[in-house]
Amino acid sequence: MPHPLTTALEELRPLLLDPDRLVRAVAAGRRRGQEPPEHERVELRPVALRSGPHLQAVARSGPRVSTRNAAVGEDAERLVEELLALPFGNWHVETAAEVVQLRVTKRGEAQLHRAATSKRQVAAGPAAHDRAKQRLVDPADPLFTVLGAGADKRRQVDAFVRLLAPLAPKLLDGAAGRELRMTDLGCGNAYLTFAAHRWLGERAAEAGTALRTVGVDVREDVVARSRELAGSAGLAGLDFATGTIAGAVPFGEEAPDVVLALHACDTATDEALARAVRWGAPVVLAAPCCHHDVQRQLQGSFDAVDESPAPPLVRHPILRERFADVLTDSLRALLLRLLGYRTDVVEFVDSRHTPRNALLRAVRTGAPARPELVAEYRQLTAAWRVEPALARMLRPEVDAVLGA
Ligand SMILES: C[S@@+](CC[C@H](N)C(=O)[O-])C[C@H]1O[C@@H](n2cnc3c(N)ncnc32)[C@H](O)[C@@H]1O
Repeated sequence: MPHPLTTALEELRPLLLDPDRLVRAVAAGRRRGQEPPEHERVELRPVALRSGPHLQAVARSGPRVSTRNAAVGEDAERLVEELLALPFGNWHVETAAEVVQLRVTKRGEAQLHRAATSKRQVAAGPAAHDRAKQRLVDPADPLFTVLGAGADKRRQVDAFVRLLAPLAPKLLDGAAGRELRMTDLGCGNAYLTFAAHRWLGERAAEAGTALRTVGVDVREDVVARSRELAGSAGLAGLDFATGTIAGAVPFGEEAPDVVLALHACDTATDEALARAVRWGAPVVLAAPCCHHDVQRQLQGSFDAVDESPAPPLVRHPILRERFADVLTDSLRALLLRLLGYRTDVVEFVDSRHTPRNALLRAVRTGAPARPELVAEYRQLTAAWRVEPALARMLRPEVDAVLGA
């Protein structure tokens, strides 16, 4: 049965203003015969910030996203007042106990539907209310469409951000009282740069910190396009720079806190790791792409038959290629560990979405090189007769830890 619109909206107000009950609320759509609201969609949810409980509103209009945090109390009341006054066609409000749907009819009345939250939803907690929450990066974000990211790239980007997420609290603590700085080296079309900036930027805003992100690529065209898009999407703190990774100075004198590199080609990944080590970046996430450097060295090393078990492993080009991938990333991880990073290598996304799905996750500890790791490195490089690109790029640092 239709209700007067103002009465129905009044019923939503206490639900939106109760941070203990509200799970999330979404206002979207337009009313017949009225100008569309200034945002296509606004999502509200309670968030716990350092400064206390807040109501967070994330508003989207095309690729433009803005976030507003209102402290529970007068600020949140003002925010809800403003949103209820906008001419949205639908409200969807989820609380711990019920789901309330309000739809504005053609006549400008309200259809109100209330249903108890299902037991399954309650048992699973708030996450079950929100399919998008399965992903940290919303695959339906219109920004991806503008950027031209396909489904596989959206998956990769989400998986990448998922690995960044557990490191965010420490990063934000480390940047207390100043801005947080992130760079994406070899950013290409910048799908990851945009998504990571948006995700970490929201966490930074919640913590009362600003995030600056700079994507770096040698290609002027992709940098110009990304820069223009960042401006039109209203993403504050996001910028792009043209140049090589080896020469990148994304923040001038300041070092980045986070270094990302997703599929930077061949030794561009090594350039990214080398930059990160010299900057002393606290967090490095790098998913390597093609590996040619070690592969080339292996090819030359075992042309002559010798006593070692190596030749059968490197004789066939396809096996040599696969083996070189494993050896390259093992040596990269080992070098990072020698140079003061706790490092692991993980599969960041299912191989259906990219065969290049290994990721080096390195967190700086500054711990001195352990002698057994030094021995491992010497043994491995001697046995396979290789000097990896990362070691060449960081020769003084590597020589210092190897005691050369
Ligand atoms: C395979 S694309 C990956 C792009 C993006 N990170 C992604 O995953 O969609 C590699 C990018 O790295 C850039 N690149 C390669 N070598 C580079 C270097 N030495 N310095 C800067 N950019 C480089 C290329 O121009 C290209 O845009």
